[in-house]
Order: sequence, then C-alpha cells, then structure tokens
Amino acid sequence: MSKTTQLHIGLFGFGTVGEGLYQVLRHTPTLKGEIKKVVIKHPEKTRNAPAGLFTTEAAAILDNDDLNVVVELIDDADAAYHIVKTALQRGKATVSANKKMIAEHLPELLELQRIHNVPFLYESAACASIPVIRNLEEYYDNDLLHGFQGIVNGSTNYILTKIATEGMSFPDALQQAQEAGFAESDPSLDVNGIDAVNKLAILLVHAYGIVSNPQAILHTGIQHLQSADAIVAREKGYVIKLIAQARKLENGKVAAFVMPQFVPTGHLLAPVSNEYNGVIIESSLAENQFFYGKGAGGVATASAVLSDLSALRYGYRYEYKKRYDQAPGELSNDFYLRVYMSFEGVGDVPYSQFAKVEEWSSTGHRSTVTGIVHVSKLLDTSWWQNAQTSVILYPDAILETLPAARETTIQTLPHHFANLKF
Ligand SMILES: NC(=O)c1ccc[n+]([C@@H]2O[C@H](COP(=O)([O-])OP(=O)(O)OC[C@H]3O[C@@H](n4cnc5c(N)ncnc54)[C@H](OP(=O)(O)O)[C@@H]3O)[C@@H](O)[C@H]2O)c1
Repeated sequence: MSKTTQLHIGLFGFGTVGEGLYQVLRHTPTLKGEIKKVVIKHPEKTRNAPAGLFTTEAAAILDNDDLNVVVELIDDADAAYHIVKTALQRGKATVSANKKMIAEHLPELLELQRIHNVPFLYESAACASIPVIRNLEEYYDNDLLHGFQGIVNGSTNYILTKIATEGMSFPDALQQAQEAGFAESDPSLDVNGIDAVNKLAILLVHAYGIVSNPQAILHTGIQHLQSADAIVAREKGYVIKLIAQARKLENGKVAAFVMPQFVPTGHLLAPVSNEYNGVIIESSLAENQFFYGKGAGGVATASAVLSDLSALRYGYRYEYKKRYDQAPGELSNDFYLRVYMSFEGVGDVPYSQFAKVEEWSSTGHRSTVTGIVHVSKLLDTSWWQNAQTSVILYPDAILETLPAARETTIQTLPHHFANLKF
C-alpha cells in the first residue's frame, strides 16, 4: 500500500466505535479513505448513514476484491475471529479493536500476518485513544524496558471514580458506564478484570515479545471490593485503582498481572479518573514516561482506528521485533506480592496461604490482613476468589524475596469498617 492508495474500506459493526469511525472519517478528507460497505447484525435498526451502505452479508466485504481494507468493530469475539482470519487469508489489510479476540488468538494472528504477508493493526484494542502499542513496539528497546503499569480499562475506572468521589453505588455507576458506551456489551468482562488482562496480554507481546494465554496471567477485577476497603484506602492516603502491570525481575523474567491496587494520592495514576486511562512506562534511560488519554468512547476509540488506517497508507505493520529479532521474554510466577485482604468473620482467615502476616485486625464482622503472598498461592486457586473476600495490592507490591521478619500488629477496628457492600 502506498501514500497514493485510496483506502476502500469494508466496515464490520456500526455501534459505538463503528459509527464513531464513520463520523470521524467524513471529517478527515486527507486520509483518502472511504467506507464502501458496512456489515451489521440487526438490519431493522435506524442508522445515521445512507441505507445503501448496510448489509448483513459478510461476503459483501470479504468476497469483494474492490475493498482493500477490512475494519472489524463488532462486539462478538467469535464472529470477529472468523472475519479477521478470512480477511487476512484473502490478503486484505485489516484493523480491529477487539482485544478479547486478539488476546485469545495471538499466536494464530501472528502466523496469519507472516504467511499472508499482510498488515494487521489494532492500536485501539489497548487503552483506546492512547498510542501505547506502537510506542512499546517501536520506541523502547527490550533491554531498556524495566516495566509498565497502568489503568487500562475505562469502565472500571469510571465505576471506581464514581464510588470514591460521589459515593455512588456499584450498580448505579456500572449502569452509567454502560449508558455512556464505555462498558463492554458483556460488562462482566470489564468488572472481573478480563478486559484488562486481555489488554495486558496484547501489551506483553509488543513490550517483551511474550505471547501468553491471558487466562494464564494472574488477574482479578473490582467485583469483590467492599465499601470498607474504600474507607481503609482513604485513611491510608490511597485511592483504589485496577492496575495492569509488567515488571522485569532480577532473573530477567517478567512478572505480569492485573489486580486492584492502593495508589498513593500523589502518584501519577491517582488523578486518572472516569473513563480515562493512564500508562507509565519505565525504562532505564528515559526513566518514567506517562501516557494519558481517553480509554473508552466512540470517537476517542475511533481516533486510534483512524490512526491505524493512516499508518496502513505508509506501509506500516507491526514487526514484533521483541519476539522475532531479539530473545523473547518469559513470564515468571516466582515472586511475592504485598497484599491487603479482607475476609468475612474472624475464624476463616487462611493464614497458611501467607508467607508472612504483617498486620491483622478485626471488627468482629470482618478481618483484614496485610501480608505477603507467593504468586503460586493465588494462581489457579479459589480461596481468595469469593464475593466476601477482597484483595488489594500495596504500592510497589512485587517482592522477589521475602523481607526480614517484622512484628505482626494486631488491632480491633471500630464497627464502621464492618461488612458494607458497594
Ligand atoms: N466502546 C468502547 O469504548 C471501546 C473501546 C475500545 C475498544 N472497543 C472494542 O470495539 C469493538 C466494538 O465495540 P462497540 O462498543 O462499538 O460495540 P457496540 O456498540 O455494541 O456495537 C457492536 C456492533 O457490532 C455489530 N455486530 C455484532 N455482531 C455482529 C456480526 N456477527 N456481524 C456483523 N456485525 C455485528 C452490531 O450490529 P447491530 O448494530 O446490527 O446490532 C453493532 O453495530 C469491541 O471489540 C470492543 O471491545 C470498544
């Protein structure tokens, strides 16, 4: 594809992002791109575009040799996989925003790009409007990249912000996020941390050349947080954020996970509110760099799709340099995390799961523990994954070795810390 090539675009999906792209493209004549056909699911819906554009037949795009670009913006990951796979097999440059589909099929999607020698871009699939994929891919050399951490899911950040600043209930905040078009069609993907871990899996391939099944990465969301946790956070000078992170360990391997975390109020990520995302990239020469922008929403997400379309015109494609041109990184599950956990009742605290307990307290209704847990005690285990147990990481939670013994503090807390649900 060259700078003079006209982009004849076949678009799948005309929802929040698809319609956003249609509107944005109409105001960007310099791109030399035009949407020629749109495949949707429900033909009966009213659309803000000429009726002749729309069809429910995928073949109208995939079998049409006049269309040189496929943009996939649907909310069905299985159908998206078949669309993207077919488009790549037919040699069409392809753009997608579907992080679930991409994260779950990364090895095959890498192979399809190589075999068919065709570009596949997906900047909007991680942090929507923030160009974090292309920066990790192009700018940071593997050796220099100590790690990255960020708020990568706009809807959970919106919910946490509304709860912390307006005292809104969890269901009300979720409903607002859905109405504003920030939440996934299936909001449990956001709330349970699945969307964030899918994005982390995508970032890992561009940061470290690591291709991992997202399900194998330690993750949880905000679904089990208690309102008492928000009180504890406030008293300690923290805000609670859902953070995705990766860090290079002393042994050269990479620790990666998605967990709620206490973030000090003076930290760069603390003021990242509502649907905004923020990512800090830590490298040895540039030190900390902070990316901030809208992590959800039709036009914001469409802006990243637009940038991919523009990149196609100057022949850009991901080269996956960290995977193919350098020794790819490797994930490690041999490290500890400093955690705050709260449990229902007093008797059921599973002390044997902790490598160290540093603080314990109880209201009589709930018990809280600050301690150190080996990651193997959290991976593939269910003892900490029930509706009454919350887990929040402390800042700088990763420990490669156990710290020296510290006296355990035992405290009984007043009753306003009792079990209040969001
Ligand atoms: N919304 C955001 O802020 C955001 C941010 C980043 C990435 N994304 C990603 O962008 C993608 C689209 O999200 P969205 O929020 O725009 O979703 P959406 O508003 O729910 O719209 C989904 C669109 O997909 C169409 N569709 C569903 N199944 C289809 C099929 N089998 N064939 C053809 N069309 C089909 C629907 O058709 P009908 O209109 O006929 O129902 C609808 O137009 C998702 O992968 C999402 O994860 C969204």
